[in-house]
Amino acid sequence: MSRILLLGGDGGLEYRLGQFPGNLLVPIAASVVERPEFDLRSLMVEDHLPDIVVFGPQVTRHTAMSLASLLDAMHPQITVVLVADPTTDVMLEAMRSGIRDVLSPEASDEEYRIMLLKAHDHSSRRDLRRRSTDTEVERVVESRVVVVASPKGGVGKSTIAVNLAVGLARQAPMDVVLVDLDLQFGDIATHLDLKPAHSLADVFASQGGVDTLLLKTFLTAHPANFYALCGSESPAAADKVGPKQVRALLSSLAAQFRYVIVDTGAGLDEPTLAALEEANDAVFVSSMDVASVRNVRKEIEVLATLSILPGARHLVLNFADRDSGLTVRDVEAVVGLPVNVVVPRAVEVSLSSNRGVPVLMAKKGGPAAKAMNNVVKRLESDGESAKPAFAHKGVALT
Ligand SMILES: Nc1ncnc2c1ncn2[C@@H]1O[C@H](COP(=O)(O)OP(=O)(O)O)[C@@H](O)[C@H]1O
Ligand SMILES: [Mg+2]
Repeated sequence: MSRILLLGGDGGLEYRLGQFPGNLLVPIAASVVERPEFDLRSLMVEDHLPDIVVFGPQVTRHTAMSLASLLDAMHPQITVVLVADPTTDVMLEAMRSGIRDVLSPEASDEEYRIMLLKAHDHSSRRDLRRRSTDTEVERVVESRVVVVASPKGGVGKSTIAVNLAVGLARQAPMDVVLVDLDLQFGDIATHLDLKPAHSLADVFASQGGVDTLLLKTFLTAHPANFYALCGSESPAAADKVGPKQVRALLSSLAAQFRYVIVDTGAGLDEPTLAALEEANDAVFVSSMDVASVRNVRKEIEVLATLSILPGARHLVLNFADRDSGLTVRDVEAVVGLPVNVVVPRAVEVSLSSNRGVPVLMAKKGGPAAKAMNNVVKRLESDGESAKPAFAHKGVALT
């Protein structure tokens, strides 16, 4: 349950926030909030603090921003949301005042629901933090940047990345963002049947660049409760992106989301290398043929040489097939590393990509969906992946 304090909302907003069950909504009219003697501090009673404070369209921007700054200073754990047209000006000012979210008055019920879910998740994590100073708990709430990479195209990187986003969003609704860093041939939007209004090219072109709050205006919400930052329509946009920008983008997203999933193009281009530098986890994907497996091995060695091999690594063997002439053991022998998850070649996967609905969204998934779930489990904060996956057969990977 979330306690929501609504300051200066109109009837419509009150109705919209009140319609979601399980929340406690306390509305205070703008006429009260705008009085000179109004004292927000008197409403902030320890143990009865609101989880979310929403400024409605009836309070002046000046009042909203100054009260938000006050809240930010006194109770930074409270999620503050402003309902206003998210122009660049408003976003920048909101950001400076510690406002976490700006929602348009025209936002859909779905967007309101998502905002509340996210705020609720934020406050329960805060409670978790408050309850214990145990380092184990701290680790649980840390953010995690996960890069999905492979030397080859068509091996299932994007398929795995979208399913990771769907799977992790179940544990962390609206706290997952999927970034399409395949700057030339990114197809996350197709895999997810999204029609994004903005793309990565807009982020890199925008003046505010990678400011956390502005960034959010470029994200596209997916019905499975995560955000996507889709690739640009034109491959030419990729030319202008430098590694510094990529690193800044990912660290900015990591400050805001628990999971940042990065899909990459084939091989180790500059953006992929930059992403790997920021990554906590790398998911290496190989198909079941000798050339692909060998190249994965080479890629890992290059990363180790450059000292940018992420701390946790996972090897996924995709398109596993009895008729390939290779066994998992053969693959492990060639690559010199253990295979962590085997995803079988399955029609359910190709169908799901073509429909734009990841297999993990299907009601009843087959063996491939099960395998995708195993990849998700490795990445969940409390999963087993804290241990580096590769420390095997004398391969010195640091
Ligand atoms: N396990 C699988 N079984 C069948 N088809 C798959 C499997 N994994 C991926 N595919 C299909 O292969 C194609 C390429 O996958 P994709 O994820 O786009 O590869 P990449 O991102 O590495 O280029 C997609 O059409 C996808 O549906
Ligand atoms: Mg791809």
